[in-house]
Amino acid sequence: MQVAPTPQIAVLDAGGQYCHLIARKVREFGVYAAVFPSETAAKGFGGAKGLIISGGPSSVYDDGSPTVDPEIFSTGQPVLGICYGLQLAAHLLGGAVTKGVKGEFGIATLELENLSNPLFDGLPLAQQVWMSHRDLVTGLPEGFRNLGRTTTCPVAAAGDIARGIYGVQFHPEVVHTTYGKNLLSNFLFNVCGCAKDWDPGRRIPMVEESIRETVGNRSVFFFASGGVDSTVAYTLCKQALGADRVRGVYVDTGLMREGESEFVKRTMPSVAIESAQNEFLAALEGVCDPERKRHIIGEQFLRVQERVVEQYGLLDGHWILGQGTIYPDTIESGGTAKAALIKTHHNRVEGIQRLLERNLIVEPLSSFYKDEVREIGRELGLPSELLDRHPVPGPGLAIRCLCSSESGSWPSTPIRSVGVQGDSRSYAPVHVIDEFPSSAAGLHAAATELINSSTGINRVVALAVSRFPLDAMRVAASTLTAARLARLRRADHIVRSMCDRTGFEKRVWQFPVILVPLGAADAPDSIVLRPVDSVDGMTAQSVLMEERDLRELAAELLTVDGVAAVLYDLTHKPPGTIEWE
Ligand code: XMP
Repeated sequence: MQVAPTPQIAVLDAGGQYCHLIARKVREFGVYAAVFPSETAAKGFGGAKGLIISGGPSSVYDDGSPTVDPEIFSTGQPVLGICYGLQLAAHLLGGAVTKGVKGEFGIATLELENLSNPLFDGLPLAQQVWMSHRDLVTGLPEGFRNLGRTTTCPVAAAGDIARGIYGVQFHPEVVHTTYGKNLLSNFLFNVCGCAKDWDPGRRIPMVEESIRETVGNRSVFFFASGGVDSTVAYTLCKQALGADRVRGVYVDTGLMREGESEFVKRTMPSVAIESAQNEFLAALEGVCDPERKRHIIGEQFLRVQERVVEQYGLLDGHWILGQGTIYPDTIESGGTAKAALIKTHHNRVEGIQRLLERNLIVEPLSSFYKDEVREIGRELGLPSELLDRHPVPGPGLAIRCLCSSESGSWPSTPIRSVGVQGDSRSYAPVHVIDEFPSSAAGLHAAATELINSSTGINRVVALAVSRFPLDAMRVAASTLTAARLARLRRADHIVRSMCDRTGFEKRVWQFPVILVPLGAADAPDSIVLRPVDSVDGMTAQSVLMEERDLRELAAELLTVDGVAAVLYDLTHKPPGTIEWE
């Protein structure tokens, strides 16, 4: 068994929250599955035994709604469409999808037709399912039979049995669908003929074996950041190769959060600390473009690595670089067509790509998602102090300290941030709602509606507190300076302390704090709060804080020298990314 076999099941992500859950459920059956952007060309799934099209929030009639390469229906590979996936298959194959007048959300009873088929083999004729949809399939494509209905949904399951193309309107991957697991198992083994090639219980030995295979008789040089991914990857390498063959180095880039270096010293005593603040700051001087910042940081890490390799006398050809890269990092950095446009992760810059090509990199976690990495860490016995930390991007505060090459009055010189809209990266103005309304209800819906109905913005924030009226503030031309980084570090520390106190830290998956150059002469910057919930960072929901806590926090942030206002990000991902850049 390999660590990451070729996926037998490709899950095509049509924008829903559940595609990763589907992939994990499949893996729980011992069959390796991975998520792909829905638009991936059919030939990209050559090695897969079957495809699952996930659900998603769109209507097949929306402009730019997710689609699939229609060729996937002609390759002979079985397909299962779930929710939107069913509607999309019906739409593309000549059936009819109708915009529902009434939604169907929650538990429903599926009544199966008495029609023998491998997908529902062994399942009762009436069963509880979980629904979440408004649109409906109302006309079947040629060759399809209706397999089941609910009181609201005339086509709750359908299939072209001869071709192995099926669709279900309900969600078999959620626990409220009583026989969901049986249905998935039927699809994998009866319809697709999958064989077991994945054993979650043997994950760690398999990863270790793969590390030994990749590294051979060389040693590993590891950049450890104190974050979850690099800590787990470093621990796996030490376990696989023996501690004396793994050298961990923590680089203090000067772009770290407050107390970070001390945390690493305390929790990872075997890691050497390398100070490189001046080099990183000097390399970033005057740079505004977010992608350039990322490239410079990634390459700068390689310079430090070259220096350390020489310092420790590690001989060329006898060492290999270890990285904590996880699967979403590779997707966002161009592992797929979608990601190429979004952002370059620091562990995917050109210099690293060259090392990868020369087989000089080991990435034990590159096929896992964040939640799986945490699970592996727990299995390794790492403490929750290390594992339950919020993710921090490798480029650190540099990508949370926004720069601007222009200055001017607000809002004619807006702040821009990175987003992900449809398939592509956007770098668009941020819209500010003038005041934080006293009632939070409907805020997110209003923000989504604003972005959907206006062109040219990708993010909506609300003003929580300000020392000046919004129209009296200006955007100042700004770069990354030690003073601005210190301001951000201070604000970030205040936010973290408050979140620890109130327990909000545990309610959110990640909480970036961002510095934007919006303010007035003696207070040139504002702080943006970006708490989000997520499973793996691929999609995320903006989370609201208790109003009283927010008021208190915002008031404390205004005491930070140079801070003019506090803003609160109301944007989900998509259309906004988690980080602002
Ligand atoms: P975005 O901003 O793309 O971020 O929604 C998704 C997740 O990835 C993290 N992130 C990074 N992690 N190196 C990392 O190790 C990077 O260059 C990087 N950029 C983004 C981000 O913090 C979020 O958790």
